[in-house]
Formats: sequence, C-alpha cells, structure tokens
Amino acid sequence: MSMMDAENRYGAVSRALHWSMAILLLVNLSSEVWFEALEHSRSEADLMVWHQTLGIAVFGLLLIRIAWRWLNHSKISLPENWARVARLGHFVLYGLMVFMPLSGVAVSLGEGDPVSFFGWMIFTPGPETEWLEEVGEDLHEALATGFWIMIGLHVAAALVHQYWLGDRVMKRMA
Ligand code: HEM
Ligand code: HEM
Repeated sequence: MSMMDAENRYGAVSRALHWSMAILLLVNLSSEVWFEALEHSRSEADLMVWHQTLGIAVFGLLLIRIAWRWLNHSKISLPENWARVARLGHFVLYGLMVFMPLSGVAVSLGEGDPVSFFGWMIFTPGPETEWLEEVGEDLHEALATGFWIMIGLHVAAALVHQYWLGDRVMKRMA
C-alpha cells in the first residue's frame, strides 16, 4: 500500500483525506436533520459546538490535503475525456471546502457567539456585528446549496465513469 499518489491510483493518505472529509462535510451539510433529532436531549449551544468542531476539522484537514497534493506534485493524471471539466469541478469543490468553514466562522462571530473546537474556545463571545452576521449567513447558506449541487454532479460523474465509460476512476479513489 503506497502512501503517495501514483499516476493511476490515489495513495493511502489522499484516499483517507478524501473519504474522511466527505463524511464530515455530509454530516455538517445535514445539520438541520441532526439538530432537530437531538433538540430534546441537547441544548442548541451544545449542538452548535459540534457543528463548529466538525467544520473546523474540515478546514484543518483541508490544509493538510492541499499541502499533501502539492508534495505529490499532482502526479494523478485525469482521464483523457472531459479532463478540463473534471479539473474545474475539483477546483470548485476545493473552493467550497475553503469558504464553507470561513463563512461559518463569520456567522458565529457576527452573532457575537463563541467559536469552539472540541473544548478549546478559539474565539470568545463578543459584541454582535449585524452586517457580518447577514453576509455570513447569506454566504453560508448559498455555499451549502452549491455544495449539494456539486456533490451531486461529482457523484454522478463518478458513476458515469464507473458504469458507462468503464474506466478505473472509482478504483483510483476506493
Ligand atoms: C462529499 C464531498 C466530496 C468532496 C468535497 C469531494 C472532492 C473531491 C476532489 C476535490 C477530488 C479530486 C481529487 C483531490 O484533489 O483530492 C475527488 C476525487 C474523487 N471523488 Fe470525491 N468528493 C466528495 C465525495 C465523493 C463521493 C460521495 C464519491 C463517491 C461516488 C466520490 C468519488 C470520487 C472519485 C471516484 C474521485 C477520483 C476522481 C479521479 O480519479 O479523478 N467523491 N473528490
Ligand atoms: C465545512 C463545514 C460546514 C458546513 C458544510 C456547514 C453547513 C451548514 C448548514 C447546512 C447550515 C444550516 C443548518 C440549518 O439550516 O439548521 C449551517 C448553519 C450554521 N453554521 Fe455551518 N457549516 C460548516 C462549518 C461551520 C463552521 C466552522 C461554523 C462556525 C465556526 C459554522 C457556523 C454555523 C452557524 C452559526 C449556523 C447557523 C446559521 C443561522 O443561524 O442561520 N458552520 N451550516
């Protein structure tokens, strides 16, 4: 099992980062569901700490992922057909991964709320900043919608590669 990416297979580190981040992102994108399911047993503030913690974990893993990609010199060669669209799609997904947590932090700070990562309070509560809350909320919501659309297209593309084009794209990340 190789740690580094090879020309035709993502290495163990890239695969672990891809799948752990995909799970964390899907959990946070579905926050409304588990916030509602747990609202009787947990306070909203408690649930928000979990939401913030998972979101900040995504951001930390993303920094490692970008560094790792750079170390690997992007050895992976994308499939010939649609390579440009795939590259653009992946770039947009990276953009969403960067701005989703940042806009979330903007909402919390705008609301004057603390920002916590597990037990560690990164930002203590402060004054409300209305414009920051509004801009942050609009962005956070729009990015979440964009994320669902991009994940849908991304998964559809993976399935098309697997079942229609019959190449090894799924295997490279499995
Ligand atoms: C949920 C959030 C997801 C995000 C943000 C995401 C993001 C990405 C990105 C950026 C790449 C390019 C490789 C890289 O730079 O690391 C990639 C590759 C890949 N993803 Fe995802 N992904 C997600 C979920 C999924 C899911 C659910 C599937 C399952 C069908 C999947 C299947 C793949 C495959 C097969 C590749 C390899 C494509 C290739 O060889 O070029 N991804 N993903
Ligand atoms: C990558 C990760 C993230 C994703 C995918 C994500 C996704 C979401 C989604 C889908 C909602 C709406 C939930 C609902 O309708 O109840 C939401 C709300 C919220 N998120 Fe995030 N989030 C992420 C990271 C963060 C971070 C890091 C913070 C703060 C440090 C944060 C703070 C908030 C706040 C304060 C709300 C409530 C907004 C409101 O009052 O309308 N999020 N997030």
